[in-house]
Amino acid sequence: METKMYGTEEAQKKAITYYDKLSVIYDFISNWYYKKARKFAISELKINKGNTVLNLPCGTGVNFKYFQKFLQNSGNIIGIDLSNGMLAQAKKKVEANNYKNVQLILENATKIDQDWMTDFSNDKFPVKVDAVFCDLGLSGLPEWENIVDNMISILKPKGRIVILDWYLEESSLRGDFVKWIGKGEVNRPIYQYLKTKVVDFQLDDSFNFGGVFVASGTKLV
Ligand SMILES: C[S@@+](CC[C@H](N)C(=O)[O-])C[C@H]1O[C@@H](n2cnc3c(N)ncnc32)[C@H](O)[C@@H]1O
Repeated sequence: METKMYGTEEAQKKAITYYDKLSVIYDFISNWYYKKARKFAISELKINKGNTVLNLPCGTGVNFKYFQKFLQNSGNIIGIDLSNGMLAQAKKKVEANNYKNVQLILENATKIDQDWMTDFSNDKFPVKVDAVFCDLGLSGLPEWENIVDNMISILKPKGRIVILDWYLEESSLRGDFVKWIGKGEVNRPIYQYLKTKVVDFQLDDSFNFGGVFVASGTKLV
C-alpha cells in the first residue's frame, strides 16, 4: 500500500488547493468538532486586553470570537494562512463583526520568524507578541519543528504558546480518516517537542475521546 506523507512540499501545494475549496464548508466541521478543545486552548493563552496574539494558521478565523472575549476589540489579532479561500472566509467574519483589531496575512508559515516580524512591525504592531496559537496546522507543515522554534522566538519574555493538534501513536482507521480530511500527519511528536522548549509545560490530551491535545507553555526569556 502506498504511504502518503502529508506535509511534504508536494503535498503542501495540494493541501492549499484543497483548503481553498474546503473553505466554504470548513466551519461546519471545525466549529462543532473542536469547540471544547478550542475554548480551553484559547483560555490557556492567558491573553489580556491590549495584547497581541498571533494565530498560525488562522484558517477561516474560527478563533477570532474567542480571542475577542479577552481582547474586546483591543490589541491585535494577527491571522496568517496560505490559503486565499480560508482567508476570504476569515475576512467575512471580520467585516460582519466589525472587528477593528484583526490583520489577515497571506503567508507561508515557514516564513514567520524574527526577521519577518521586524519587517512587519510598525507603530501599531510590535516586533514581539504576547501569545501564539497554532491550531491544526503543525501536523500538516513539513518544517513543524522550525515553526515551533520561530514561534517561541517571536514571543515576548513570559509570552504564551498554545498548540492544538492531533496525536495518535498507533495507526488506525480513525487516524487515516483524520489524515485524509486534514491533509496532515497525526503521529508527529509535536507536544513532546514543545515540552523541551518552554517552561510551565501543560498537556491535556483527552479531547475528542483522546487524539486531540492542547499543549501550552511559557517562554522564559
Ligand atoms: C486544518 S486547517 C486549520 C485552520 C485553523 N487553524 C482552525 O483550527 O480552524 C489547516 C490550515 O493550514 C493552512 N496551511 C497549510 N499549509 C500552510 C502553510 N505552509 N502556511 C500557512 N498556512 C498553511 C491551510 O490553508 C488551512 O487553513
